[in-house]
Amino acid sequence: MAKTIGIFDSGLGGLTAAAEFEKLFNGKKYIYFGDTARVPYGTKSADTICRYACQDTKFLIDKGASLIIVACGTVSANAIDELKKRFDVPVIGVVEPAAEKAVEIAAAGNGRITVLGTSATVKSGAYERAINKIDPKIEVRSVACPMFVPLVENGYTEGEAAALFAREYLENSVSFGADAVILGCTHYPHLSGVIGEILQRSVLINSGKEAVVAAKKYLPAHMVSDGNGEFYVSDAPEAFSRLARVFMGREVADGVKCIDIESY
Ligand code: DGL
Repeated sequence: MAKTIGIFDSGLGGLTAAAEFEKLFNGKKYIYFGDTARVPYGTKSADTICRYACQDTKFLIDKGASLIIVACGTVSANAIDELKKRFDVPVIGVVEPAAEKAVEIAAAGNGRITVLGTSATVKSGAYERAINKIDPKIEVRSVACPMFVPLVENGYTEGEAAALFAREYLENSVSFGADAVILGCTHYPHLSGVIGEILQRSVLINSGKEAVVAAKKYLPAHMVSDGNGEFYVSDAPEAFSRLARVFMGREVADGVKCIDIESY
């Protein structure tokens, strides 16, 4: 039987994965959930992130998803083992796929990787573990960039405000000279312009995109149901639709529906 893929994030960040899904799984159905009532996740404790992630996953499975892409670095770093344990469907996060891609690049260069993520992601050490499991010689530096998510959620992806915070967080990383910079939070590819401007020598890795590439290896497109994206949020669907239109470059299909995530 054809399968449906569920994608979730705390908010708009996972749209970087959804955009990639539409390219790699052209004309295939997916269900997107953005937890806009509880974003940001990156400032919360691991226990809270885990509880939210379980509710998000249950919602998508109830909607018919039989494979989950965790398009959220914070959840992937803090709750993926719990999701895999608790749910009987394959769960693919962003950490391992992004780490693999970064190691491939760094191993052919200076052996250095910078990881940008939320505070909860950096605190978890998940990217360092994933990278050094593949190649213990790689030197990793992680930088928490807590203002990046609110900037993206409010549509400030370019211009002076975005550039100011990018300089604040990244200027000290320039001399490290990383071969690859993992955008370890799925919101960050929306800020690629200002990040790339500062870290010009490094290849930027879109972690949401790498998770979709990994999902496609696991589940070829012909095994996925035909259709479009269906979008759900837990609050303020109009605000989500407005920015989703900007990020996806089109109207999101059939509008965005609001659900009560606390009931899952
Ligand atoms: N897109 C989420 C991530 O990848 C954002 C986390 C947040 O809500 O703070 O980490």
